[in-house]
Amino acid sequence: MTKLLVVATGNPGKLREMQAYLSDSGWELTLKPENLHIEETGDTFAANACLKASQVAKATGNWAIADDSGLQVDALNGAPGVYSARYGKTDAERIARLLRELGDEVHRQAQFVCAVAIARPDGAIALQSEGVCSGEILHAPRGHGGFGYDPIFYVPEKQMTFAEMTPELKRTISHRGKAFAALLPKLPNLEVTDC
Ligand code: IMP
Repeated sequence: MTKLLVVATGNPGKLREMQAYLSDSGWELTLKPENLHIEETGDTFAANACLKASQVAKATGNWAIADDSGLQVDALNGAPGVYSARYGKTDAERIARLLRELGDEVHRQAQFVCAVAIARPDGAIALQSEGVCSGEILHAPRGHGGFGYDPIFYVPEKQMTFAEMTPELKRTISHRGKAFAALLPKLPNLEVTDC
């Protein structure tokens, strides 16, 4: 039995990343239809992951998986949070805005959060997980790898920013890595009767 899982993204990079996390899971991952657009209207990462998975499942009649992630800065009351992708037009603008708003604040604790949800073909949520990676916001970017806020997110235990880490190291400690690691052991228990 082929267990098809539609990924609620149009981004092939995200599909590849999820394929890597779920390579031993026995599910075959595929991109959502291009013409299917879903607005992220939730006010939590979990709510957005659930609404994306649920709507893609219902629209395609297949099992679906979605993730939603972002950066929460304590001194900014959790901003940019679910607005992380919409905080500016480019990564450089988003980083500049965050550093400007944080100013000389000494309390620079922050965390990346990732929520993942899997929905049944009828849209009901079958599984959810969340991963958190704690760190600090630097005063200036460091490192050239990764994407998004990686150059200003410093992980004290590794003495590196996300942008200074190899992709393998980032995967093992990141919010996304932890969310998928928590999901994996639960996957075999899903009742797949309708694929
Ligand atoms: P989404 O979950 O793909 O919608 O991502 C939300 C936004 O959060 C991204 O566009 C980035 O700005 C930010 N973000 C999420 N995960 C990471 C990460 O691992 N590094 C840097 N930025 C991230």
